[in-house]
Amino acid sequence: MNITVVGTGYVGLVSGVCYAELGNRVVCVDKDAHKIMQLERGEIPIYEPGLKELADANVRRGRLSYTSDLHEAMRLSELVIIAVGTPPLPSGEADMRYIESVAAEIGEALGHYQLIVIKSTVPVGTNEAVRGLIAARTRQPFEMASVPEFLREGSAVQDTLHPDRIVIGADSSRAAHTLQELHRPLTDQLIVTDIRSAEMIKYASNAFLATKISFINEIANICEKVGADVTEVAGGMGLDRRIGAAFLRAGIGYGGSCFPKDTKALIQIAGNVAYDFKLLKSVVEVNHMQRFGVIDKLLRALGHLQGRRVAIWGLAFKPETDDVRDAPAIEIIERLLELGATPVVHDPIAMPNFRRIAADPRIVWCEQPLDAVRGADALCLLTEWSQYLRQDLREVERAMARPILIDGRNAYSAEQLAGAHFAYYPVGRPAMNNEDIA
Ligand code: UGA
Repeated sequence: MNITVVGTGYVGLVSGVCYAELGNRVVCVDKDAHKIMQLERGEIPIYEPGLKELADANVRRGRLSYTSDLHEAMRLSELVIIAVGTPPLPSGEADMRYIESVAAEIGEALGHYQLIVIKSTVPVGTNEAVRGLIAARTRQPFEMASVPEFLREGSAVQDTLHPDRIVIGADSSRAAHTLQELHRPLTDQLIVTDIRSAEMIKYASNAFLATKISFINEIANICEKVGADVTEVAGGMGLDRRIGAAFLRAGIGYGGSCFPKDTKALIQIAGNVAYDFKLLKSVVEVNHMQRFGVIDKLLRALGHLQGRRVAIWGLAFKPETDDVRDAPAIEIIERLLELGATPVVHDPIAMPNFRRIAADPRIVWCEQPLDAVRGADALCLLTEWSQYLRQDLREVERAMARPILIDGRNAYSAEQLAGAHFAYYPVGRPAMNNEDIA
């Protein structure tokens, strides 16, 4: 198929590259001409394992190209995929500005029948609104469909090429058939629904995963008080197939560009139809509070934080990404600064992005993990990058002024800790605690 993908952010670029990999001819469009130039030079503007290799290979095969000219891209295409951003407005509602302007442009460019698919995460009813915007600008026949995206940052290529399911929201058998054929090489789990349900499946899925995380984080907080171990509890729960083992890792809460945005947007969507989504409001609040558990543990271990040097390992909202949007590290570091501590930070790749949003001159930036811990009064692990798990903890202990380790991700095993003498504070598990250490 000839496919136009509009928007070269995470979703657009990864989908475009993967549709090309399936043998389609894909043109990725972005109005940011600078980004298009970068892509044409073979530079991938996001960090995503495997993406560059796949993009390069498909450009070489002549199946993938980039342009900032939507009209030109649409001249030959049969399918247009909208994958532009829907960032949150201050109210939590999704900002539909980019979707609306793309819809208007598509309406003007439409020269023959095309199927228009929305992949961006959009409030229920958006497909119909976009249909109206396009119809107002063209006499050509076209159809709308919704194919929400479920890829995760850091494993986006893998998730796209091996999805658990593909959800197709369509209101004609022609549109449903086209999209089934396009996605059939990826999975047998192709679900066809009406368009509104497809839009809702995306929000409901993210909200449910966020709920699992906040749930296990609250269980972890209780485990700390009753002396249980949340990793054992989650393991025991996860064996029940009705519950499932995934997304039951307790820690400092979720971040990133999806869960925080989509949970708040769904609360708004419900609010707009006079429904008070109480459960999801609690999920958001629990998630916000969870990150400050790191600060509580530091205070317990050190008494006060004034003048303390606190090493931070990991700034990205999760490993294998340089994305720091809504990363718990942001507010943890702000709070450390408020309490008079000096954060000494390291992340393998997210430091440039973090510096852009948190440029406080009191933060010390380090190129190596060991540089960050030298002379530190405590070490907080905020992102479980594998490079931190490989560190020799005895060497880390020797480099620190006080051997205090706050493990915000329950990343270290007893074996890794053996031999080092840390006061060790995990999440929802018994602390190996030496209160005299401060
Ligand atoms: C999430 C969903 O997992 C994807 O299915 C969805 O397509 C995507 O949002 C989206 O809407 O675009 P992503 O935000 O990339 O993907 O990352 P996840 O791997 O889901 O992690 C989200 C956050 O939850 C991270 O901060 C992670 O550390 C945290 N998390 C995850 C936990 O704290 N505990 C867990 O058990 C799992």
